[in-house]
Amino acid sequence: MNPARGTLRGFPDPAALAQAGAEFLCERAESSTGPFVVALSGGSTPKPLYQLLALEPFRARLPWDRIHWVLGDERFVKWSDPASNFGMICGAFLSHVPAPSANIHPVPTEDVTLEEAAQRYEDMLKELYGAETLSADRPLLSVNFLGLGEDGHTASLLPGQPALQERERWVVPVSHGRAEPRITLTYRALESTRYTVFLVTGAKKAAILDKVLSGDTETPAGRLHPAGELVWFADQEAAGGWAK
Ligand code: 6PG
Repeated sequence: MNPARGTLRGFPDPAALAQAGAEFLCERAESSTGPFVVALSGGSTPKPLYQLLALEPFRARLPWDRIHWVLGDERFVKWSDPASNFGMICGAFLSHVPAPSANIHPVPTEDVTLEEAAQRYEDMLKELYGAETLSADRPLLSVNFLGLGEDGHTASLLPGQPALQERERWVVPVSHGRAEPRITLTYRALESTRYTVFLVTGAKKAAILDKVLSGDTETPAGRLHPAGELVWFADQEAAGGWAK
């Protein structure tokens, strides 16, 4: 079966998915020129993929000098907090690779308000992009790794939250809906992407993945329509009959 949108790549297990995801990133980074902007998701699913990036052969293949690392969303906690996406990403690979510090773009979460953090992150993205408005023929993000929550959220676009209605700002605060306040890229920013890659593993995600692949337009993930290629990476437990 083919999903209502995008293409599905099924894998026997999370390790095979992580390997393929790292290869997907490397191939596109190697075949690109100039700045290559990668948006990283938080949560647990992407961690095995991130860990591979610090190991050979990926470590030697990635053009670290021109890859910029941004976050699709962040919990408004200290980077040292176990809940921090940036903290997880640094531990998984970013603290162990030759990425220039100027290419690493965490969300500010100390000595700023939630709103100031969102505004500063949007300002950073606009400086990185080199313009105040997004152009249809020049995506903001080269690759965007996204997770999928059981409730259909992605990044910190949470069901029922005002962030889902935002179509002008690139980054907004999310003050309700989770234990910690969040910062999230909006649909406007997330859809300005050359390659959007959802990473979905485990039996608990089977129901929501089935709903989204069937063409759901109600959940936050189902409402995301990226400009470029959309690829669903799912292991057998999450993909179920979709991977046959
Ligand atoms: C976050 C993520 C979030 C995550 C999903 C799936 O900050 O938590 O950005 O959108 O991708 O909640 O999380 P798991 O991969 O842990 O299932």
